[in-house]
Amino acid sequence: MSESALLSARQSLPPIDYSHAEGAWIHTADGDRLLDAASGLVCVNIGHAHPHVVERIARQTRNATFASPGALLPSVQEELATRLTQAVHRPGDGVSLSCSGTSAVELAISYARLIQRSRGWNGRHHILTARLGYHGNSALTLGLSGHRRRRPHPDDALGLAPAFDPPYPGHHPGCPHDQCRASCADSVVEAIEERGAESVAAVLIEPVNGTTGGAYVPPPGYLATLRRACHERGVLVIHDEVLTGLGRTGLPLGADHSADATADIVVISKGLSAGYIPLSAVLVNPAGLAQLRSSTRPLPLMGTMSATPLQAVAGLAVLDVLSEMGALDPTRTRGGDVTAAVRSLEGLPLVKETRGVGYFHAVELEPGTQAAALAAARDEHLLLYPFNGFHPDGTGEGLIVAPPLNSTPSEVAFLAQGLRRSLERVSAHSEDCSNC
Ligand SMILES: Cc1ncc(COP(=O)(O)O)c(C=O)c1O
Repeated sequence: MSESALLSARQSLPPIDYSHAEGAWIHTADGDRLLDAASGLVCVNIGHAHPHVVERIARQTRNATFASPGALLPSVQEELATRLTQAVHRPGDGVSLSCSGTSAVELAISYARLIQRSRGWNGRHHILTARLGYHGNSALTLGLSGHRRRRPHPDDALGLAPAFDPPYPGHHPGCPHDQCRASCADSVVEAIEERGAESVAAVLIEPVNGTTGGAYVPPPGYLATLRRACHERGVLVIHDEVLTGLGRTGLPLGADHSADATADIVVISKGLSAGYIPLSAVLVNPAGLAQLRSSTRPLPLMGTMSATPLQAVAGLAVLDVLSEMGALDPTRTRGGDVTAAVRSLEGLPLVKETRGVGYFHAVELEPGTQAAALAAARDEHLLLYPFNGFHPDGTGEGLIVAPPLNSTPSEVAFLAQGLRRSLERVSAHSEDCSNC
């Protein structure tokens, strides 16, 4: 058989021949179905083929798919910008639309540098990031990402590297405490001082670690301490909420779990596109927006396929669905049943640790068991997302558990039972085979 011409990522298991997807389910070509317990790549947050979104996209496709916002009145794009600021409870923000998480992170970096220059701080260009984290696949964002297995070749890294240790167990070698705490933001301060604050534009950070380390949540007070320390030094804070934004962690923003942590600039993508159409957004707070508006320098270039009416309509439809399900309510953390299901796995022989919040969790597994666990989960009709190589010594493996935010109680129960059964089966098999 000839090899596929398609160059793309592959998991350890063969890809599934599927016929269609609906809600939380992937239907296979042979008439079976699997629960999409990773929401695709942690993006199909309202499930597949939601009728409201499908209908709005279909209608807009017949009306106009492209309309350059510079030339043709971008009313629907403006409506999305306003609705998005309401959705994440950031009134008065400016919004830039783009078409991937990566491109939006790059835009956020451009905005941070522009804001600093319009403040008169022309030397502030460095962007500081954590040694564990992911910000995108462009040369710039990958150079800044603490993705151990995906670090660019040193010749290709544009001289970039992450700058500080994050406050997670085993990832902050100099930590003076048993467990990281808010004051571990000192490592960010050290990184700023090392470069000289007058050269630092912003700190870019995931408010909850995504798929690199697997859903590490920072200690209470860390994001607030980091924000205060940055602002005291004239450094802006950018939250990369590409994965966490719009309800994934149970609240509208991942940073909503922490008091006094509001970022100057926020990047959102997966939650807004929900896997329907390429779409992302950068939100700039009112102070930054005032700086941008007072600047004589041009705004960053948007790119051809940013801010089309089709994207805007899709984003609006996704926000309708999220709003209706209560995912944009900042007073109620959702996803307690998913959290309970994942936590209940603690103590199983295969499970080293579980972590996460809301609808975003990781099960860290004993070394050498990931492939078997993934296969056993598939036998239980569950699709999960593997992550590995995140510890400083290159070890570490686990599974991301991140079902759609509108999974029903019976779907969450199906997930809980299937996950437990698959992990138990793998450990029973390894015990049986200890002398194999
Ligand atoms: C935290 C974070 N930032 C940025 C990105 C890049 O987004 P995209 O793949 O849409 O370019 C991702 C993608 O997984 C992400 O998880």
